[in-house]
Amino acid sequence: MVAMKESLQGKKILLAITGSISAYKAPLLVREFVKAGAEVRIVMTESAQKFVTPLALQNTSKNKVIIDMFDDSIQERGSWHIHLAQWCDCMVIAPCSATTLARIAHGFADNALTALVLALSDVPCYIFPAMDTDMWLHPATQNNCDIVRSFGYHIIEPAHGELASGLIGIGRMHEPTEIVCLIAQKLQTEKVRIPALKGKKVLITAGPTYERLDAVRFIGNFSSGKMGFALAEYARNNGAEVILISGPVALKASTTIHRIDVESAEQMFVAVCDNFPSVDIAIFAAAVADYTPLHPATHKMKKEHLGETLSVSLKQTQDSLAWAGKNKKHGQYIVGFALETENDLEQGKGKLKRKQCDMIVVNNALTKDSGFGSDNNTITIVKKNDDISPFPHLSKSECAKVIFESIINDYASNEEL
Ligand code: CTP
Repeated sequence: MVAMKESLQGKKILLAITGSISAYKAPLLVREFVKAGAEVRIVMTESAQKFVTPLALQNTSKNKVIIDMFDDSIQERGSWHIHLAQWCDCMVIAPCSATTLARIAHGFADNALTALVLALSDVPCYIFPAMDTDMWLHPATQNNCDIVRSFGYHIIEPAHGELASGLIGIGRMHEPTEIVCLIAQKLQTEKVRIPALKGKKVLITAGPTYERLDAVRFIGNFSSGKMGFALAEYARNNGAEVILISGPVALKASTTIHRIDVESAEQMFVAVCDNFPSVDIAIFAAAVADYTPLHPATHKMKKEHLGETLSVSLKQTQDSLAWAGKNKKHGQYIVGFALETENDLEQGKGKLKRKQCDMIVVNNALTKDSGFGSDNNTITIVKKNDDISPFPHLSKSECAKVIFESIINDYASNEEL
């Protein structure tokens, strides 16, 4: 019991209640979780309200109960289901009706509860089915259980005993104290993995920029955006809230990444200035044009007017990374990239200092199957005090992993960052 209290202390439980007669025990379940030190947020289906009132659940949990996914009062920040799914340490569905089990098995997101199940990423989901014996033993329900287990969710078989129908058999929901003990044990033994970047806001720039020469032409570069997108996906998969500022690329990002599409260095700079102040980590992986035409033509330039040769005056663009370095606040971590063709390390060290970064990721444009357009990269991480870590030829996803591991390591060894 003591161990139970300890493992639930401060834990965030997302409790889901469905339309089964045993839902009448839900307020007791909430009370047991709260007594053990957990914070409980509740989602219930429409039909659960036939068996227990939202008011009783709101009073016991001290939190608003979600029933309607389109309820105005939960739309404030948008994507309420994503925020709630990322907030919790685990989801507990008790009782879970045969219908909700079927919906989960088949990926429905047609009510607030099932939408939340689909939005869970790294946290465990414990399902306590409760129904009449025949419904439980029906092949449809058992198949659905198999499917749900294959997603990695935990199904806790119902108890045997007296059922609401008066029959005796398997199908009873476990008693609230048993459920709380079981969840406490699970959380203790399975040690819920807290995503390393949970609670962190990350900004990433990616891709090339296009600098318009006239209405149909631009100065650009061969960047594909793959490195920046790999970083964005890694951060998102590890719990971060991600803002991805991307130049023109042909890549798709996960919908939970806040993507801002830009074209030019100037637009990228504006987007960085708008967003950098609120982030914890900023990684500048974009290949930004250093110069842009001074007087881009608004119409298509014509050869007959230009003659044999063409000279274009260019002006320097704003350097987003250097601006961020100058405006960096306590606790912010900045990473730049340096794509070089010679003296890589010296160039990287120079950029680290000049642009006031915490880390520069150096890569060489001439290395085989690395850099622009490739799925792979060969990087060296350069930090202050000549801290240099070369890595072998890796996929860009693996590069993203080693870059973030190095950042997380710095955060862990210097909480003040
Ligand atoms: N960078 C930026 N904005 C710019 C130019 C560069 O944010 N206008 C960032 C890049 O995203 C990268 C880092 O600065 O993280 C280094 O870019 P790079 O082009 O290698 O360096 P430059 O300072 O432009 O120097 P050079 O091109 O002369 O090597």
